Amino acid sequence: MLYLLDTANLEQIKRAFDLYPMSGVTTNPTIISKENRSFIQILKDIRNIIGEDKMLHVQSLSKKAEDIVKEAEYLNETIGGNLYIKIPVIPEGIKAMKILKEKGIKITATAIFTAEQALMAAIAGAEFVAPYVNRIDNISGDGVDVVAQIVQLFELHNIDAKVLAASFKNVQQVHEVALTGAQSVTINAEIMDKLLAHPLTDWSVDQFVNDWESVYGEGKLTLDVE
Ligand code: G3P
Repeated sequence: MLYLLDTANLEQIKRAFDLYPMSGVTTNPTIISKENRSFIQILKDIRNIIGEDKMLHVQSLSKKAEDIVKEAEYLNETIGGNLYIKIPVIPEGIKAMKILKEKGIKITATAIFTAEQALMAAIAGAEFVAPYVNRIDNISGDGVDVVAQIVQLFELHNIDAKVLAASFKNVQQVHEVALTGAQSVTINAEIMDKLLAHPLTDWSVDQFVNDWESVYGEGKLTLDVE
């Protein structure tokens, strides 16, 4: 399972990459606009924090294939590193995916609400497909089931594309998506923390420290070798 952080907030990115086994960052125009400063500078700052090797997924904005291709080439030249261009699964987006695949630019198909959208995007050349789990749940669909169908379709048709499940509002959605065999999830900083949170874990750690300190006093385990 690959964990990606769905934010453009630099502090959140620094903290998550310091603590957790992160594989990359995803953004979209809504996420970028929350930062309210230069788009390219935000992306350069993220690249500086995460390095060249971690994945950075950046979304196109245009609705015409030729403009999406121009945006993708611009981002590829300007930001570089392990970059994926996120392209929505509209017909012009699929056309852009075919063109960009030929040019060797890596693609993440996004705004996916059905398994058939994911299948076509993968055939057009997307390396990742991003189904929106919570947004599907919010229209009385079953986001986890859509993810499971995509995983199954890719297996049945020997498709190499990976699922990058997105749009989560709680840990249970992430857990159920992981059980489908989806290869990656992109989640916000709050849910990333909640994946670990458990009061009994904190209680146990406090008890270990208290028991130790009641015998050895305050100090570190490595005191003797320092
Ligand atoms: O990457 C797509 C994701 O950001 C959508 O999430 O929470 O806006 O539904 P959300």
